[in-house]
Amino acid sequence: MDINLSQIDEILSTARSVRRKLDFDRPVERQVLFDCINVAVQAPTGLGGESWRFIVVDDTAQKGAIAGLYREVLLELMAARNLPLKPSHKALITHLHRIPAMIFVCVDGQPPAEASGGQLGFYGSILPAAWSLMLALRARNIGATWTSLLAARQAEVARILAMPAGTMQTVMLPVGYTKGATLRRADRLPAEQVTFFNRWGNQPDT
Ligand SMILES: Cc1cc2nc3c(=O)[nH]c(=O)nc-3n(C[C@H](O)[C@H](O)[C@H](O)COP(=O)(O)O)c2cc1C
Repeated sequence: MDINLSQIDEILSTARSVRRKLDFDRPVERQVLFDCINVAVQAPTGLGGESWRFIVVDDTAQKGAIAGLYREVLLELMAARNLPLKPSHKALITHLHRIPAMIFVCVDGQPPAEASGGQLGFYGSILPAAWSLMLALRARNIGATWTSLLAARQAEVARILAMPAGTMQTVMLPVGYTKGATLRRADRLPAEQVTFFNRWGNQPDT
C-alpha cells in the first residue's frame, strides 16, 4: 500500500476547530457527507456494535432552532463561569443558523448510569467515530468544530430532531467548506514529556 505518511500526519495534526472561515453559502454535498460517514463507521466499536446514528441537519428551520438553543446554552455557560465570550465562539453563534450542515453523532442506546467501565465502553464506542468523521471532513477541506454543549439539553435536542426514547446525541459538528482558513498544529507538549516507559513517571534521559 502506497501511503503518503506526511499528508496523513498533517491531516491528523491540523483538524482544528473552524468557526469563522467557513463558506456559509456553499452547501456540503450529501454524497460527500456519506463518504465521510462511511469513513467514520470504520472506527472501533465495543460489544454493543454499530449503535452510532448520524443526524445531518440541513433544513433551515431545524438549523435555526438548534442555533437558538446552542446560543442559549453557550451564553448561560459563560455567564455561570463569569467568562467572556471568545471572538471565535461569538462568530459561531452569530452564523450557526447559516451553517451548511450540522452533524449530530448519536447513539441508539444510553450510557450506563453508574460510573464504571461500562461508561468507558459506551463512549469509547462512539467518540472515535466522531473524531474519524472530523478527520475525514478535514481531509476534504470541510471545517468543523467539536461541540458538546448541546449535551446539556438532551431533551430539547431530542424533540427538535424527533429522536426516540432510549437514544442520545453526543457531539454536534457544524460543518462547511473552509474559506481562507490556515489550519496549523496546536501547541502541545512533545511526546517525550508525556510518555512514560514501564512505570508512571519513568522517562528516558534522552
Ligand atoms: C470535550 C470537548 C468539548 C468541546 N465542546 C465545544 C463546544 O461545545 N463548542 C465549541 O465551540 N467548541 C468546543 N470544543 C472545542 C474546543 O473549544 C477547542 O476549540 C478545540 O478543542 C480546539 O482547540 P485545540 O486546537 O487547542 O485542540 C470542545 C472540545 C472538546 C475536546
